[in-house]
Amino acid sequence: MSIGPTTTTSAIQQPVSYHPPQLAVIVPSYNERDNIELLYEKVALALSGTPWEMIVVDDDSPDGTADLVNELSRVYANIRCLRRFGRRGLASACVEGMAVTSAPYVAVIDGDLQHDETILPVMLEKAVAGADLVVGSRFAEGGSAGNGLSATRLSGSNFANKLAGMIAGQAVSDPMSGFFLIRREAALKAAPKLASDGFKILIDLIVTSARMGTPLKTAEVGYTFRQRHAGESKMSPLVVIQYLGLWLSKLTGGALPPSFLLFGLVGGTGVVVHLLTLGLFTSVLAQGFVVSQIAATLIAMTWNFFLNNNLTYSDRKLRGKRLITGLLSFFAICALGGVANISVASAIYAWDQQTFVAGLAGAVMSSVFNYAVTRAFTWK
Ligand code: GDD
Ligand code: MN
Repeated sequence: MSIGPTTTTSAIQQPVSYHPPQLAVIVPSYNERDNIELLYEKVALALSGTPWEMIVVDDDSPDGTADLVNELSRVYANIRCLRRFGRRGLASACVEGMAVTSAPYVAVIDGDLQHDETILPVMLEKAVAGADLVVGSRFAEGGSAGNGLSATRLSGSNFANKLAGMIAGQAVSDPMSGFFLIRREAALKAAPKLASDGFKILIDLIVTSARMGTPLKTAEVGYTFRQRHAGESKMSPLVVIQYLGLWLSKLTGGALPPSFLLFGLVGGTGVVVHLLTLGLFTSVLAQGFVVSQIAATLIAMTWNFFLNNNLTYSDRKLRGKRLITGLLSFFAICALGGVANISVASAIYAWDQQTFVAGLAGAVMSSVFNYAVTRAFTWK
């Protein structure tokens, strides 16, 4: 195989004045229709003189962001849209955008104009000079959180930064930044090991690369965080809990995946729901124990299913008909998990007569079983 014109392909013409991109600007997007054109124009202005391209990774936004980007592609040669169906997720959107460019450097920027695109050339310069990663930072010299964040968001952001500092293994002033530039090879090396289901890809890239024995040489450029131009933020309490899952997972050295920790957390709330329902049925509704226990089990399982669907597996949420088949498969698998629980617990109890040890072993056994099997079948 040869790269470049051969005798048979020499008739193929390059598009007029084609320059392979030096930098790909990845824009994860969900409902950013009213922002993307202005963003493109601003980035084009900032990067004039550098061959670059913009890749918008859109999760089939209902507002038609993808259609707009496709229209822009008919006007400008260096913008295109990667449209994903039935999926959600900022982190995986960034990784997939990085995977479809040939540019040696990739930058990630929000679609809502909160990040200052005019520092992109400086970021690129630092990367060309040898940094693997250049973070656009609100907290480095020359940076400011501006009025882009509410007071609650700012204190939440500070707390998240502290947590991140504990796992980062190097000093980064803004580990929560959604604005950074990285050598494509370095990012793709870590990509298969990243948690796909989070908002926080930067800290994941830093920690994962270090853990793979190739820590990222990092530089920073300060900028002032702006207010969102049009539309709404997708930040939510769920995103915060997902971040805590990622953080705990990194703290365990990655031994426990974030989705397992979230699944366990959901299971914990399910126990509370179970006990409350049991109490309600036996006392308030004056039902017998067996009926109450059956009702409580069904309600707690349903609760767990919906919470997992929205939190643990928000990136592959089941909807419509699949919600029903998913719920039924979840019931069936958890029932098997219950059998596994009781068999393991009885076997251990028969061996050492320790109620607590046997009970705990059974519970751990069924949690792992339910997690692994529902992940493979219910949320495949
Ligand atoms: N493809 C895709 N899929 N894109 C998404 C999704 C998703 O599920 N969720 C959000 N996005 C896109 C948004 O459209 C936007 O372009 C970008 O990701 C950031 O989302 P925002 O909703 O604007 O997040 P934010 O402003 O609240 O948070 C930003 O600032 C934080 C710093 O305070 C993000 O950059 C965070 O990563 C950053 O920590
Ligand atoms: Mn934003």
